[in-house]
Amino acid sequence: MIPVVSLAPQPHRGDMSQQIKFEDAAPATTGTIAVFGATGRQGGAVVDALLDHKATVRALVRDPRSDRARALAARGVELAAIRTDDPASLAAALTAVEAFYFMTPEASNLEEVETEIRIGTALVDAAVEARVPHVVFNSVFGADRERGVPHHDSKHWIEEYLRKSGLRATMVRPTPFMEEMAPSLEHGEIVLRLPLPEDVPLKMISVRDVGRVAAALLLDTAETPGEAVELVGDELTGPQIAAAFGARAGLPARYEALPLSVLPSELDRAMFRQFAKAGEHPSDLGAVRAIEPATLDLTGWIRSTGWATPAGPGHK
Ligand SMILES: NC(=O)c1ccc[n+]([C@@H]2O[C@H](COP(=O)([O-])OP(=O)(O)OC[C@H]3O[C@@H](n4cnc5c(N)ncnc54)[C@H](OP(=O)(O)O)[C@@H]3O)[C@@H](O)[C@H]2O)c1
Repeated sequence: MIPVVSLAPQPHRGDMSQQIKFEDAAPATTGTIAVFGATGRQGGAVVDALLDHKATVRALVRDPRSDRARALAARGVELAAIRTDDPASLAAALTAVEAFYFMTPEASNLEEVETEIRIGTALVDAAVEARVPHVVFNSVFGADRERGVPHHDSKHWIEEYLRKSGLRATMVRPTPFMEEMAPSLEHGEIVLRLPLPEDVPLKMISVRDVGRVAAALLLDTAETPGEAVELVGDELTGPQIAAAFGARAGLPARYEALPLSVLPSELDRAMFRQFAKAGEHPSDLGAVRAIEPATLDLTGWIRSTGWATPAGPGHK
């Protein structure tokens, strides 16, 4: 049954913090967990995992009437309308929450990197104002050790800002998503192309597991030594990734390393340069499994998502 929506301003909250309450939302087993980015991929996976644990979830959304926000609400998620340039709306939305997860939106140019930093800063300030007991920040792998990728440096900057805030903070640092792997079918062969040399292992994680690990940390069912965890579910070279898809399809597979120049944005070129260097840093595949034992490797992800052989060229 779709819950009945009553849209009404809550007491002691600013204009932008209208809450949509649902009369038959699932009973809470923990305090409220706030999620920024809940209508997106990673935040959505965090919500999925929290709801699996019957947690009470409040999503901070720009537009509570969007289809994605309504879909969350239909699953019992409380919606708090926010604007990242309205500090009062953010602090109000974080009132009385037990923990807060936030990611920062994708940046494909330097202006968007500035926006990313502005949003991250505003969310940390609001968490301070609302005295949130625990904040989990969705950073990026390498944010602690590499510089020169603008949309990764921004996350390092936000990590530092969060550390200086005095809040209890945990960083999750996802590697590239398995969902980004998009092999094609060409002349009866699975072909994967990436702008990465063929002998370099690429670290990766499924979006589902980003959500599961973050949820475990938010619910305090797990801790991370050193207050940060690199989210890596598998580490494979291009030919090994292609072979995993080929094995599923029952077809031969081939990898083609592309030059960096195929990437239109300098930010992405810098990122793939970093991916090529990241092979120098050994992954701790056990760290993430100590938090979420069922973390998928690529073969497990291919199987669990029901990945199907793509249609070949000319296929209708
Ligand atoms: N792709 C990868 O392999 C990878 C790997 C590691 C890390 N990352 C990082 O992950 C992040 C992207 O995560 P994602 O893929 O989960 O994002 P996504 O699916 O694009 O979702 C973005 C979320 O942010 C919200 N949002 C965007 N701009 C906003 C604004 N100005 N004010 C308020 N809310 C805003 C969106 O809400 P609306 O519904 O309102 O639009 C949506 O919920 C990036 O920082 C990226 O660098 C990506």
